[in-house]
Amino acid sequence: MTALGSTARLAGRDVARIGFGALQLERTDVPRETLYPVLHAALDGGVNHLDTAHFYGAANDVIREALHPYPDDLVLVTKVGANRRDGALVAAQQPAELRAQVEENLATLGVERVDVVNLRRIDAPPGIIAEGDQIVDLDDQLAELISLREQGKIGAIGLSNVSADQLRHALPAGITCVQNNYNLLDRTAEPVLDLCREHDLAWVPFFALGARYPGFPQVTEDPVVQEIAQDLGGTPAQVGLAWQLANYEGTLLIQGTTSLEHLAENLAVAKIELPAAALDRLSSR
Ligand SMILES: NC(=O)c1ccc[n+]([C@@H]2O[C@H](COP(=O)([O-])OP(=O)(O)OC[C@H]3O[C@@H](n4cnc5c(N)ncnc54)[C@H](OP(=O)(O)O)[C@@H]3O)[C@@H](O)[C@H]2O)c1
Repeated sequence: MTALGSTARLAGRDVARIGFGALQLERTDVPRETLYPVLHAALDGGVNHLDTAHFYGAANDVIREALHPYPDDLVLVTKVGANRRDGALVAAQQPAELRAQVEENLATLGVERVDVVNLRRIDAPPGIIAEGDQIVDLDDQLAELISLREQGKIGAIGLSNVSADQLRHALPAGITCVQNNYNLLDRTAEPVLDLCREHDLAWVPFFALGARYPGFPQVTEDPVVQEIAQDLGGTPAQVGLAWQLANYEGTLLIQGTTSLEHLAENLAVAKIELPAAALDRLSSR
């Protein structure tokens, strides 16, 4: 148990089930100085799992500036598979590109080893899709990541945006976590989650409250979620996140925010236990 309640295993460590995702730290419309207190408050509140990527613009710099030297219990997770060119995300799936991105992450995070590296596949939406020489065999990518792990540059390997078949195929490489798009209103990734349950892997949903693209349903706007939030005296975001935690004991949340108020709401999810009837109603959405 931690200040944030129960923990789950990630890369052989126990981490609080409420972590923090750094995607919002790339925002240029938010003064950088206002982001440091959010990161400090997250760690002070018990977060010891940060999810980031070098291709999230300034995110790694903000993390390093705010938190380096890092506390011993902090698990830093990054991802590789894309790059930024002229502000836009471009595919970077080839093994040499993955290695270069690991090196960039080490440099920008200011560490000699990053605890977990997620291989972000781009065979399927959301986001950019691989074409031409960016369609790379999974085994070739895993071989490069295994070599980086053997060299001590990464602690463990995770996968992101993968199918159940891809995860099953990759298991012999030693996979610690899977990060896929998954939420109450879009459970397409359920077979991948089932495989995580079967193999005791950490399950790290992104878009945990709904895909952030126009036209996609938002969990916080769902009438049943709103009703349950009102009954419990919480917010719809808290109900959507609490449902994720109740769904599998290996689920780790990485909702990010630039707001201290939203951060406090997200940390408080650790204390929310959804009544069985509410859980049933939500799960049958
Ligand atoms: N592997 C992948 O392909 C992939 C893709 C996307 C994201 N990720 C990772 O997953 C993490 C989560 O991604 P995400 O897209 O789901 O979320 P996110 O980018 O971390 O945050 C999305 C939005 O949620 C808002 N928010 C946070 N807490 C809230 C609350 N309590 N109430 C209302 N709004 C709230 C934030 O706005 P405010 O700043 O105003 O709070 C933000 O605009 C990212 O940070 C990133 O680390 C991975």
